[in-house]
Amino acid sequence: MFAVYADSFSKTDPLSALQLGERPDPDVPDGWTTVTVKAASLNHHDLFSLRGVGLREEALPMILGCDAAGLDEDGNEVVVHAVISDPSWSGDETFDPKRSLLSERYQGAMAAKVAVPRRNVVPKPASLSFEEAACLPTAWLTAYRMLFVQGGLKPGQTVLVQGAGGGVATALITLARAGGLQVLATSRDERKRARALEIGAHQVFETGARLPERVDAVMETVGAATWNHSLRSLRPGGIVVISGATSGPNPDSTELNRIFFLQLRVVGSTMGTSTELAQLVSFLDATGTKPLIDRVLPMAEARDGFAAMESGEVFGKVVFTRS
Ligand SMILES: NC(=O)c1ccc[n+]([C@@H]2O[C@H](COP(=O)([O-])OP(=O)(O)OC[C@H]3O[C@@H](n4cnc5c(N)ncnc54)[C@H](OP(=O)(O)O)[C@@H]3O)[C@@H](O)[C@H]2O)c1
Repeated sequence: MFAVYADSFSKTDPLSALQLGERPDPDVPDGWTTVTVKAASLNHHDLFSLRGVGLREEALPMILGCDAAGLDEDGNEVVVHAVISDPSWSGDETFDPKRSLLSERYQGAMAAKVAVPRRNVVPKPASLSFEEAACLPTAWLTAYRMLFVQGGLKPGQTVLVQGAGGGVATALITLARAGGLQVLATSRDERKRARALEIGAHQVFETGARLPERVDAVMETVGAATWNHSLRSLRPGGIVVISGATSGPNPDSTELNRIFFLQLRVVGSTMGTSTELAQLVSFLDATGTKPLIDRVLPMAEARDGFAAMESGEVFGKVVFTRS
């Protein structure tokens, strides 16, 4: 079958490790099912995989992609949940120490077909296209859990989203606005700040700019480059929820004194459960909220999408389709 895969790693030139071509059909263990992929979306995770971060050499060649929507074996329209937990695990899948994401241990979603445990498929409502549904399993689910589960945010509260252009960040802005929050966002890029206003931010700022007032919560995916600004932007007792560190994991100062003196809460967040994916799907279906798509490309042109993400020129999700 056709697939987009990694057959080597390159820290400096990840696209040189990217391959497009034929791969064997996926193994389907007992209790698993095959989804015929209609659309798959790109995440920063896929670039990390090509750099050899989070993917072992012994696992190569590995089909990339965490996110897909398509048809199950009975022809039902489904969204794939990308967190693969151990068969013996019950409860919150994100706490399973043996969990992996599609494309880490098991072959990923950028292919004609993907195999997943039966409990990893969630019904897709008619109100979402396959392209829109394929945006949800990683970036949008991560944003949903950050805001409403780990962040526990309620309508009327204020939230700052760092790095407005990212896949997770655009999901955070859109979901926060639809959930009744006051939304502030930062970006290094003036055009991205203007787009952030269009998709729901109430106010936008240059990265690192002083805010007019302190916020209840900050959503962090940028890491070292914005960490100190995130802490400085919180009201006493505020919460920073962090799910990524694109610019690096080691800020100049962790500002421990600020954390204890202002009684700030620092909470990690990773992906979400299949129940939360179903809740997110229902949230979008009920509110009419749509994932923001930067571009849709045939899967055979996936290299262009990877290049766009690597150069930082995307705003929203990059989606690959199979006809
Ligand atoms: N824990 C999880 O479950 C989970 C799930 C999904 C993603 N993640 C992580 O979250 C992060 C974002 O993922 P994504 O797919 O949304 O990536 P992305 O689309 O590439 O977004 C990254 C954003 O970070 C900002 N940024 C990057 N370098 C920066 C710098 N030096 N200074 C300021 N801002 C910078 C940029 O915002 P501007 O250009 O607007 O400034 C950019 O749009 C990644 O680290 C990813 O691994 C984690």
